[in-house]
Amino acid sequence: MTRTVYVNGEYLPETEAKVSIFDRGFLMADAVYEVTSVLGGKLIDFEGHAVRLKRSLDELDMQEPCTKDELLEIHRKLVELNGIDEGLVYLQVTRGSDGDRDFVFPSLETKPTIVLFTQNKPGLANSEASKKGAKIISIEDIRWGRRDIKTVQLLYPSMGKMMAKKAGADDAWMIEDGYVTEGTSNNAYFVKDGVIVTRPLSNDILHGITRKAVLRMAEEAQLKVEERLFTIDEAKEADEAFTTSASAFVMPVVEIDGVQLRDGTPGPIAKRLREIYLEESVKEAI
Ligand code: PDD
Repeated sequence: MTRTVYVNGEYLPETEAKVSIFDRGFLMADAVYEVTSVLGGKLIDFEGHAVRLKRSLDELDMQEPCTKDELLEIHRKLVELNGIDEGLVYLQVTRGSDGDRDFVFPSLETKPTIVLFTQNKPGLANSEASKKGAKIISIEDIRWGRRDIKTVQLLYPSMGKMMAKKAGADDAWMIEDGYVTEGTSNNAYFVKDGVIVTRPLSNDILHGITRKAVLRMAEEAQLKVEERLFTIDEAKEADEAFTTSASAFVMPVVEIDGVQLRDGTPGPIAKRLREIYLEESVKEAI
C-alpha cells in the first residue's frame, strides 16, 4: 500500500509529495516538528502536542499553518487512510520558501510549509525493546541553548545515536556542566530508594509531553518525584532508570556506560509506569 502523506493542504501518495528546494526547513533547519503516537488507531495526547507546537511556533515568530481542529482532522485522516493501528504521526512546519536563500526571515506573506506523514509500527506498545530495556552511554551535550523548542536541528542527536550504536549501546544521555540534560530523543530519569529523579524543565531540555503525563501518573500512584539536576554517576548507582518519549513511552534503562543496573533487567517502577501510562493514555486517546 502506498503511503498517503499531507503537504500544504493536499493528501498525496508519498512519491508525488514535493517541497521547494528553497524551503527554509531544508536550507536552514528553520522548522519545528511533533511526533504523536497512535495506539488502537487513536491519537495519544494530541492536545499536548498541539499546545507544544503552538509554543514552538510562537517562540520562533512562525505562523500557524492551520487551526488546532484542522490539525486534528489531518492527523485522523492520515491514520485512517494509511490504516494505522499502532504507529506514529510525524508533523513538520517550516517557515516556508520565498524562492531564494537568505538568512533574513521572509516576509509574513510567505506561507509556512506543513507536512505530515504516518509511520506504521505494529507491536509498538508491546515492543521487544521495552522488555529488554535500553543500554545507554553518556556523551557531551553540545546542542544549542533553546532545546525547549522542538526544532528539526537533529544532527547532533543523530550523531549521539550513532556513537551509542558504535559502542554497542542503544542510545545516549547528554551531559552539560556535569549534569545529565536528556536523552537524544527522550527525557531521562533514575530511581533511588523509591524516589523518581528527573531534571526540572528549563530551556535546557525539551518539555516532554510523555514526561508531563508520566510524572502526573507517578504522583497519582503515590510515587515520589524529585525534579532536580543529577549526575551520570548518581544514575549509575541507581536502583533503576528509564526514559520517556512519544515514540517509546516509558523505556527501561538497564545499563549506563557499561555499568549494569540491578541484574540487567527492567526495574519494577519503570515497568509499572509503562503499564499505567499505556493504560491511561489509551483510555484518553482521541
Ligand atoms: N522526540 N527530549 C528530546 C530531545 C526529544 O527529541 C523528545 C522526543 C523528548 C520526549 O518528548 P515527548 O515525550 O514529547 O515525545 C525529549 C521525538 C519522539 C522524536 O524526535 O522522534
